[in-house]
Amino acid sequence: MTLVAMTCSAGGFGARAASTGKTLVVYFSHSGNTRVVAERIARATGADLCEIVPAKSYPTDYRTVVDQAKREIEAGYRPALAAGAPDPQNYDVVFVGSPCWWYTIAPPVATWLAAHDFSGKRIIPFMTHEGSRMGHSEQDIRELCPGATVAEGLPVRGGAVGDSAPAVEKWLAKLGVR
Ligand SMILES: Cc1cc2nc3c(=O)[nH]c(=O)nc-3n(C[C@H](O)[C@H](O)[C@H](O)COP(=O)(O)O)c2cc1C
Repeated sequence: MTLVAMTCSAGGFGARAASTGKTLVVYFSHSGNTRVVAERIARATGADLCEIVPAKSYPTDYRTVVDQAKREIEAGYRPALAAGAPDPQNYDVVFVGSPCWWYTIAPPVATWLAAHDFSGKRIIPFMTHEGSRMGHSEQDIRELCPGATVAEGLPVRGGAVGDSAPAVEKWLAKLGVR
């Protein structure tokens, strides 16, 4: 059995903005790029930050994970998550981050979204990618989360996450969340 602790930290994670306790940043990251953007957003907004961790880790070999992800996405497979996945019930605004995998969110993110009711909530997606930007993830999230309002997402080049601060700041200002 694989037991990996879900990584969560409460708002105030170096926050500049006052935490309302109503905003959550949740993300999956296979190779670390999306984590950088998630931490940036949490820091800027004072939101709680949680990582989605699959019960069974994805392979580290690039070709192997690319092939596995293709099979899973084509099949609509929803991998099990490690214990401790966050409950969005107490949040009004949920930032959802994923690497772009085959033009959409990674399967663990789909598992988490499909497991909860997001009616009346605002979902704000962000994605790291190497050319496909948001792909069709915004539409896919709308379909997985009926009743939620899905904002225009922020695509960030995976290779340029270190330089993403100005784009994140501009996007947050446009969204009016800080
Ligand atoms: C399984 C897999 C599928 C991918 N599919 C795409 C894709 O369709 N379009 C794209 O632009 N990048 C794609 N990429 C590149 C990743 O989206 C990019 O490297 C991302 O920043 C990785 O984020 P992470 O470090 O948080 O895992 C893919 C990478 C992997 C491993």
